[in-house]
Amino acid sequence: MLIRNHDHGFHHPLASEITPAELAQGRRKLLQTLGKGVAGLSLANWTSGAVLAQNQARPGRLPALNHVKSTLSGAITMEKSTEFKDATSYNNFYEFGTDKSDPARYAHTLKTSPWAVNIEGLVKKPGQYGIEDLLKLAAMEERIYRMRCVEGWSMVIPWLGYSLAELIRRLEPLGSAKYVEFVTQADRETMPGLSSSVIDWPYVEGLRLDEAMHPLTMLSFGMYGEVLTKQCGAPVRLVVPWKYGFKSSKSIVRIRFTDRQPTTSWMKSAPQEYGFYSNVNPGVDHPRWSQASERRIGEDGLFTKKRKTLLFNGYEAQVGQLYAGMDLKKYF
Ligand code: MTE
Repeated sequence: MLIRNHDHGFHHPLASEITPAELAQGRRKLLQTLGKGVAGLSLANWTSGAVLAQNQARPGRLPALNHVKSTLSGAITMEKSTEFKDATSYNNFYEFGTDKSDPARYAHTLKTSPWAVNIEGLVKKPGQYGIEDLLKLAAMEERIYRMRCVEGWSMVIPWLGYSLAELIRRLEPLGSAKYVEFVTQADRETMPGLSSSVIDWPYVEGLRLDEAMHPLTMLSFGMYGEVLTKQCGAPVRLVVPWKYGFKSSKSIVRIRFTDRQPTTSWMKSAPQEYGFYSNVNPGVDHPRWSQASERRIGEDGLFTKKRKTLLFNGYEAQVGQLYAGMDLKKYF
């Protein structure tokens, strides 16, 4: 696995900071690395020159993605980012097992190329959109979001991608479209977790159309300046920072526009525990535990205090309006 080689102390420069000499050196190193037969450096999977940085050659790392820092309100938290090693080794991706370490261990079998996302339902422009086209669709931004898992832990991740609204606008949803459903990859050959019945596969999530169109909702292709690792949902995932992490579906293959609220995988598995909205809310407990505080991954000292969880994960100024007048206990 690539992540084993990750050097935590190394500042990896943005594509724009790389000099031609460094590029040449990087390419030489890549050839040496490939020559040594390092597995998993699947550059062939990532061939869209328009967005991939020239320095995709850094040994032991995934290809870099060209990007700019986001200027969107609320898109960059000043909190310290979670270590790359933690963000890529403590994951939920049940298609590869239910243990937090399973995705890093087993997701290398995920085949991310070729990859296409099928657009269906109530839109004027349905069809199949290849990952290469999606990568080029809009300017790739870095946004540093707080992420809160329903299980009570949180991370801060520098995501790369653009607002899902950029794609939705181009698809021209019909007036009757009120919800968007996200269906993710379910392949028994490559995903060992599918033998478990913990979820009625495929993993399905959904958003109200206005939530999906909110600028903070991201279609993400990368993190930490590079393409997404497989365990984090390569080659394309959703990131919805004001909702519990399970709303952010990984490895999306289908996006469907509908007039009915989708039944999500977690609503099917445990309807009393996981609602459709799943907005982060310290005032609405999970039936089996409080949601008032959280453990930040990486701050795990014996005496480290838990952090207070914030309404809408701290994004109330940006998204509160979406829920004006709604009973958040009823629509949990
Ligand atoms: N997407 C798919 N396809 N399968 C999953 O099991 N788990 C969800 C979400 N997306 C999941 C998924 C859950 S429970 C969480 S908390 C986040 O992914 C975790 O994302 P991370 O591993 O990148 O932190």
